Amino acid sequence: MQVSFKTQKSSQAIRSASGQVQTLYLAPNDVAQIVRRHGVGKVTAGMAAYIREDFLRWAQFDKSARTAAHSDAGVIELMPTADDQLYSFKYVNGHPGNGAVGLPTVMAFGVLADVATGAPMVLSELTLTTALRTAAMSALAAKHLARADSKTMAIIGNGAQSEFQAFAFAQMLGIKTFHLFDVDLSATARLQCHLERAGLNVKTFTSTADAVRGCDVVTTVTADKKYATIITADMIEPGMHINGVGGDCPGKTELAAGVLRQASVFVEFEPQTRIEGDIQQMPADFPVTELWRVFAGEAAGRTSDAEVTVFDSVGFAVEDFAALRFMKDAALEMNLGQTLELIAQSADPKDLFGFVGQAQTAEQGTFA
Ligand SMILES: NC(=O)c1ccc[n+]([C@@H]2O[C@H](COP(=O)([O-])OP(=O)(O)OC[C@H]3O[C@@H](n4cnc5c(N)ncnc54)[C@H](O)[C@@H]3O)[C@@H](O)[C@H]2O)c1
Repeated sequence: MQVSFKTQKSSQAIRSASGQVQTLYLAPNDVAQIVRRHGVGKVTAGMAAYIREDFLRWAQFDKSARTAAHSDAGVIELMPTADDQLYSFKYVNGHPGNGAVGLPTVMAFGVLADVATGAPMVLSELTLTTALRTAAMSALAAKHLARADSKTMAIIGNGAQSEFQAFAFAQMLGIKTFHLFDVDLSATARLQCHLERAGLNVKTFTSTADAVRGCDVVTTVTADKKYATIITADMIEPGMHINGVGGDCPGKTELAAGVLRQASVFVEFEPQTRIEGDIQQMPADFPVTELWRVFAGEAAGRTSDAEVTVFDSVGFAVEDFAALRFMKDAALEMNLGQTLELIAQSADPKDLFGFVGQAQTAEQGTFA
């Protein structure tokens, strides 16, 4: 069944009859309902189409590397972007030790706003949505970079993102066999159970080297705040595509330099990836290609069956912009979400004080 997610043309902020700005709030359960209705595969494919659409008009976006607040435990980042109609930002963290205190490694929310007025149109959960959009972006990149006959994918790191990665690759590349490895055996057992229940073939391994052997695609999606070398040069086979998702922060990598040296490396937004991606360990002139150029036909993706390709994924704001657009459209189609009055507004916009709605005595109003 082909699912069509219709792009809503209106970028107007939602206003009530009285002119009050009304923001559509999408809770985690709203996003879960969208996923339950269509399935992870079709949602990621639908979202990938939105991402591709936005990457194809790359020049229209305000682009900047994200603002990051680092600590020993992790990072909190803000990811803004805008075109001439819509503005978006995502708040997202990355705290690899969060599992020990019962919290996800990655938590996110974000806003889509009307550029003409600045009014917030959508406030959405983005924890689930980030997993969906990251998987959508990975599979979209792999459509251009992996061999067309790819059948097997290794997933190294079997945490929160991993099912989404598997279902996106199953849907968009037809990959049905997955090799799993995680240092946490219970994480692998959970992922195996979810994939087998969906009819996918799973083999589990006791090392990364064993898991990746003979695979067409290798996805690394581990979480550790260090210069890790999950994939080393000796594990690379001709024609492999590496989808490196977990090396996404200064001081946090997954691919050894020797892997990058023997591959053609593709990135989202080069200035951000130079700081955050696996290529942070390479010289500033190490050659990379931005993916929008491949999607637009301006640059080549894979050029031969033997070529080794790497998508050095870090996650870029335009993907979240597209994901927010997608979720808004999918939610409106299913009549999901809740209206929030986030903005304090009075009938006279200059009379913000009047919104408080109570007479202030001289004493209450004087703080001297
Ligand atoms: N590139 C992007 O756009 C993007 C988006 C979201 C998340 N991420 C990154 O993806 C990574 C995974 O996120 P998550 O939400 O699944 O985290 P998670 O904590 O739920 O899962 C990470 C898994 O990696 C495993 N792991 C750690 N070190 C390992 C090693 N050496 N070998 C094998 N497994 C190992 C852990 O045991 C854990 O199960 C994080 O680093 C996160 O920052 C990237």
